[in-house]
Amino acid sequence: MESLLIKGGVPLHGEVNVSGAKNAVLPILAATLLTSEPCVIHGVPELSDVGFMGEILKSLGAEVRQEGDTITVRAAKVKGVGDYDLIRKMRGSICILGPLLGRLHRARVSLPGGCIIGPRPIDLHLKGLRELGARITIEEGYVRACAPRLAGTDIFLGGRVGPTVLGTANLMMAAVLAEGVTTIQSAACEPEVVDLADFLNAMGARISGLGSPTLTITGVSELHGVEHRVIPDRIEAATYAIAAAATHGEVTLLGARPDHMHAVLDKLREAGVKVERRGTALTIRRGGRLKPVDVTTLPYAGFPTDVQAQMMALMTLTPGISIITERIFESRFMHVSELTRLGADISIEGPSAIVKGGRPLSGAPVMASDLRASAALVIGGLAAKGATQVKRIYHLDRGYERLDDKLRKLGARVERVEES
Ligand code: EPZ
Repeated sequence: MESLLIKGGVPLHGEVNVSGAKNAVLPILAATLLTSEPCVIHGVPELSDVGFMGEILKSLGAEVRQEGDTITVRAAKVKGVGDYDLIRKMRGSICILGPLLGRLHRARVSLPGGCIIGPRPIDLHLKGLRELGARITIEEGYVRACAPRLAGTDIFLGGRVGPTVLGTANLMMAAVLAEGVTTIQSAACEPEVVDLADFLNAMGARISGLGSPTLTITGVSELHGVEHRVIPDRIEAATYAIAAAATHGEVTLLGARPDHMHAVLDKLREAGVKVERRGTALTIRRGGRLKPVDVTTLPYAGFPTDVQAQMMALMTLTPGISIITERIFESRFMHVSELTRLGADISIEGPSAIVKGGRPLSGAPVMASDLRASAALVIGGLAAKGATQVKRIYHLDRGYERLDDKLRKLGARVERVEES
């Protein structure tokens, strides 16, 4: 198994290209199941999760071809049942349920497995699909759904902590081929949901209210093939921005969408980080001394939960007290004990982490537990004195394209090593 060996203390300098968004490309790949015609998707990042989704589409009978960052999918014929283990392994694959039901009016998809960042039920997905007319049962670890007819209706999709991203995606993909009009209230407004809706509309769907909590979907009888470029990954961009600030560096993010990153950029400015926009280039520069800031994760356009861990790593380096509150995933603090191993001073009080920052970090062997926690450990290692070994970096490869290459181009002393 591979790990990342980081020799810290080097300010990051230079330009980095932002890759396509993982959380846009996964539901977009699922949406290709809605037509028998070829769909060509550009800007696809080279990630293990994308590879998994490709295997899942193949297990459903689709042809999948990748050339560089372009994937072509042709789902001429599809089965309603996919590979149990593949689907169970990757939570994001639950978003094949909506398109399969939309196209075939039946689907059998394995229940997503547990997740270390918190219980991730799909009750809202199932509630919405039932309201569209699907009969749904859970049997032998599968969600079994069938609907002689899908009929448009008003659906409220708000949950315990607000909207659901993949739940909104699933409902949209089931409703585009349903009879009549569906409205989704308390829909997720994430840019990745908008990118999926743009893709569906380009296929011939009729969705309005994109980016707002109310989506209106007028069903159509069929969808056609399309060519589409995925939006850039705002979470990857935010990760490099925070790494630049943590290492006293200056990094230009090429191809970023600053208009998708307001909450993160606002918090960085509040902490004293210099943020400069030139066209689609975003330059992040560590100004002088950082100031502690409080952060609460919220649904979009609030501060993203997928940047919480990285921001915590930055606050461990910042003299003073900052409070980081996680409102989306209860137990998304797996990175705390490992940042503490690097010398950070963090205590947990309910949904909040109290960070007493400013103590220099020193390198140590640490263990990655999930995708974003591992990004925080990399940032801690880049800022720490001495060497840090981040183990189980397969977590990173799920969501960061060629992270070690990109960091090396920015001057970091990073290498992939076999775990000892
Ligand atoms: C998406 O997950 C992202 N994954 C996550 O990114 C991201 O953290 C999350 O949205 C929130 O922004 C992908 O897009 C593949 P949710 P999703 O349904 O859709 C509760 C990463 O690091 N909920 O919006 O699964 C749920 O438990 C990943 O890239 C219900 O209660 O998240 C959570 O507390 C991690 N019932 C909250 O809603 C439901 O039926 C938000 O979850 C569905 C969700």
